[in-house]
Amino acid sequence: MTALDADAPDLQYAGRTPYVRYTNSDVLRDLVRPQTEEPLEVTFVIATQIMELHFTLLLHELHRAIDRLAADDLAEAQAALDRCVVTQNSLISSWELLSVMSPVQYNRFRESLGKASGFQSFSYRELEFVLGAKNEHMLHPHVGMPEVHERLQRSYDGPSVYDAAVALLHRRGLAIPRGVLNRDLREPWIEADPALVEAWREVYGRGDELTRLADTLTAVAERHSTWRFVHYTAVRRILGAKPGTGGSAGLAWLKRTVDAPVFVDLWEVRSVL
Ligand code: HEM
Repeated sequence: MTALDADAPDLQYAGRTPYVRYTNSDVLRDLVRPQTEEPLEVTFVIATQIMELHFTLLLHELHRAIDRLAADDLAEAQAALDRCVVTQNSLISSWELLSVMSPVQYNRFRESLGKASGFQSFSYRELEFVLGAKNEHMLHPHVGMPEVHERLQRSYDGPSVYDAAVALLHRRGLAIPRGVLNRDLREPWIEADPALVEAWREVYGRGDELTRLADTLTAVAERHSTWRFVHYTAVRRILGAKPGTGGSAGLAWLKRTVDAPVFVDLWEVRSVL
């Protein structure tokens, strides 16, 4: 046996090591439960869980951004949104794990999913709500889980990060119509609003911290659309035009979500800069 260096880490622990207690890595490992012998099912389960963890982190940062915007703490809101972009980059790159999966490999474990579908992801749904894509129907799958439903309902009823940003623009002296400021927060942002496009145009003329906010919100929107699109192409490659496990028409249904804009005014303003 080789002698241990005096500066080597501690080797003796009773029970779970402090690392395992802190990270719950044993619990995490136990959560990987493929149901077939297909090796790619492990990849699928872990890729999905990794994305769920990213959704959780993104929600943490987006709620902080909303909170800080409402408190006029733009520096901290900006920092949270910067972290969102980094998290989204990591989230999008986790699709790489599934880039190696063929339709034949997927078919070997697809039945074990039953009716399970990412469509039922409550964290993804909350993410959509917090980004302003409100849709009351999407609360329904979660009524059987009261705590989850309650949290989702709060995000549905409350301001999206875009609502919080627009309110800040108003407080910083930009002309935001009263109707926009008093809008029903449960309404989705779908159409561009000429007054908001004009406000963002003015913001872009300033070259200050609000301009940086506009650019970071655009980066968040761009990455969210990218996630939707990469999901769409993965589905196209792995499933084709077959119906989804969640009961939708599959690709055709997903296409509509891919086309839905995020922070539409910020995209519209680009044509007038
Ligand atoms: C083999 C890979 C995958 C296939 C074939 C697939 C297929 C589908 C389909 C067909 C839908 C439409 C709803 C339905 O009828 O099921 C859907 C929705 C969805 N999937 Fe996937 N998916 C895959 C991987 C993933 C992964 C890894 C995630 C990560 C969590 C995910 C998250 C979602 C989400 C969040 C939705 C709802 C989208 C929305 O509401 O706009 N999917 N998926």
